[in-house]
Amino acid sequence: MSNKVYIFDTTLRDGEQVPGCQLNTIEKIEVARQLEKLGVDVIEAGFPISSPGDFNSVVEISKAVSNPTICALTRAVEKDIEVAADALKFAKRGRIHTGIGTSPYHIYSKLNSNPDAIIERAVKAIKYARKFVDDVEFYAEDAGRSENEYLARVIEAVIAAGATVVNIPDTTGYCLPSEYGAKIAYLVNNVPNIDKAIISTHCHNDLGMATANTLSGVINGARQVEVTINGLGERAGNTSLEEVVMAIKCHKDLDYQVDIDTKQILKTSKLVSRLMRMPVQANKAIVGRNAFAHSSGIHQDGVLKNRENYEIIDPADVGVNESSIVLTARSGRAALKHRLQVLGYELDAEKIDQVYKNFLVLADSKKEISDEDLEVLVGHEKKEERIIKLDNLQVICGKSCIPSATVTINYNGNIITETSTGDGPVDAAFSAIKKIIPKEVILEEYLVQAVTRGSDEIGKVHVQLEYNGKSFHGFGANVDILTASVWAYLDALSKII
Ligand code: KIV
Ligand code: ZN
Repeated sequence: MSNKVYIFDTTLRDGEQVPGCQLNTIEKIEVARQLEKLGVDVIEAGFPISSPGDFNSVVEISKAVSNPTICALTRAVEKDIEVAADALKFAKRGRIHTGIGTSPYHIYSKLNSNPDAIIERAVKAIKYARKFVDDVEFYAEDAGRSENEYLARVIEAVIAAGATVVNIPDTTGYCLPSEYGAKIAYLVNNVPNIDKAIISTHCHNDLGMATANTLSGVINGARQVEVTINGLGERAGNTSLEEVVMAIKCHKDLDYQVDIDTKQILKTSKLVSRLMRMPVQANKAIVGRNAFAHSSGIHQDGVLKNRENYEIIDPADVGVNESSIVLTARSGRAALKHRLQVLGYELDAEKIDQVYKNFLVLADSKKEISDEDLEVLVGHEKKEERIIKLDNLQVICGKSCIPSATVTINYNGNIITETSTGDGPVDAAFSAIKKIIPKEVILEEYLVQAVTRGSDEIGKVHVQLEYNGKSFHGFGANVDILTASVWAYLDALSKII
């Protein structure tokens, strides 16, 4: 068996089924082009019969990318297969992905059928799809809860009918890693013609085990993994591409090969998150904001001595260039000294001690200590005023009016006022600022947190802006959440300027 593991990305099909994540064709093409740069082997571009928009996206993605195989989903229904084949007509390499449910739930209570009739339908669908394309993948929906013996019968029949790939989805995310691995091993050992097809994993994350299940599938003989960027997908999501790829890359002992340019991972994650309006949780493995951030003193000291003391992945390998040392109240002298050296300050031990004392006092009242804060602590406070200051903010919003905001900013000593409307008051205020300072920034993250529980207490806002491929963070805190939002936005903007 080859050790190449094929990466089948279904961000644009299973990922896109998430409410609120729908993309238009132009956006899908942008994601598909980035997936091609990332090096995925297969892009599942849509479910053509489901809507004219999905059909069109499969057509346009087929024209826009040439290296990956383009796959289109269908049910085991002739009309679905015809429409999918039509949508794939421009694909250099097209694949039809057809299938049917094989668990007792699906056979009896969803399809109102019986096991033999299901095999018949599956075989018929594969044979029909093979009339249009040479590459046909079969999915046994809810294979995770299907009986292994019956599943093996289905898989043997569809391979005999011409399936080139057999997908074993854990549709409901029910399996344990040992159970899912044993299922794949059962098929490897009990389906006589299994060597004629590639086994594919397709795991959902309902119990948080999608990545573990996928890897267990690979270890037991699967050679294709169906994954999404950032683990997007219905309910708790699908297996995350970045986690599986980096697990394989880290565990060289497993000796699997994936053709992914890992340096494109963060860029792809950010693009998908932005277009699908799905922020990535800060502690998400590989692509979360904190995935490579060390804040405790002991860890920072260890990382500064040798990165590998606390890191199994070099952040640069997944396209992360930012400093991994975050200065907080838990940072030690080693981290402070290191950051000061990066900023050009060589201080003797006595001065470091003195700065460290003040650093701890400031860190207790602030979430993170920025480079500007450090400049102040070492006594080199920039004498000039902040170049952007909020002078005034007026917001109108309510149940039956269009939200609008008037923002007055002191920008480099000039007082400028602009008014804008928006989807909400925050959007209106940010749009007004954009009119005053028209930088090409993208709002990557907007987070509001209450510092205490009462509605009259302080709220903290964190804003993350992307500018020229780099992320800039801004913070604001105020009893008025809109003022805090504008401060946070201006804070991030002033770092850009
Ligand atoms: O989860 C699932 O079973 C699927 C199939 C349609 C492949 O997404
Ligand atoms: Zn799925």
